[in-house]
Amino acid sequence: MSGEDQLSQRFGREFPKGHVLFRDGEPGHEMYVVQSGRVNITKSLQTGELVLATLGPGEFFGEMALLNNQPRSAGAVMAEDGRLLVVDPRNFEAMIRGNGEIAARLIKKLSGRLQEADEQIEDLLLHNPTSRVVQHLVRASQRRGRATSKGALVAVKLDDLHGRLGLTPDAVAQAIEKAVKSRVIMLVPEGVLVPDAGKAKKYLQFLEKNA
Ligand code: CMP
Repeated sequence: MSGEDQLSQRFGREFPKGHVLFRDGEPGHEMYVVQSGRVNITKSLQTGELVLATLGPGEFFGEMALLNNQPRSAGAVMAEDGRLLVVDPRNFEAMIRGNGEIAARLIKKLSGRLQEADEQIEDLLLHNPTSRVVQHLVRASQRRGRATSKGALVAVKLDDLHGRLGLTPDAVAQAIEKAVKSRVIMLVPEGVLVPDAGKAKKYLQFLEKNA
């Protein structure tokens, strides 16, 4: 049996969609590594539930409470059925102390998360829902878009956007419709195309000036 299979057998557990792994503010006793499925990291606000991130296979979460002895900084809910490795504090510490590569990956991941959190704040500061959606998609097209003959393709699930952007599903649908009509984005089966990021940014400036 490979090392990974042994880990999966020892620490792996299946969880159904909708299962609440933990809530914001609870004491934290484990960290998790996603093997399959997706997990929403959420924050409850007066205005509703904000999704800070949706994590997939290979990603981890729940390490902060173990590292800083603080309550959970956010909640975690299964967005799909999935299998997670559930690691207790002793094994987590042994993993970090015993393996510099794991520690380095952890630090890289944490700095990436901080950058994404900063970007999310930037999006949330925009009041106009269309600006929020367009800014998010333009940035995604520049960071992780795939170049095609028609522009940068962002593989995004539109259903994931409203939680992430603090909007209702209707507000996202209306924003997308406006941006499509203005030819700033195009909907394709794989996600969203941003034909010209420069034009999209000018559209954003126009929206903000007239907000
Ligand atoms: P912890 O505070 O133990 O519990 C909630 C977890 O969500 C936290 O550890 C991180 O692993 C994860 N988390 C918190 N904030 C973010 C964020 N902005 N993006 C991605 N993951 C996060």
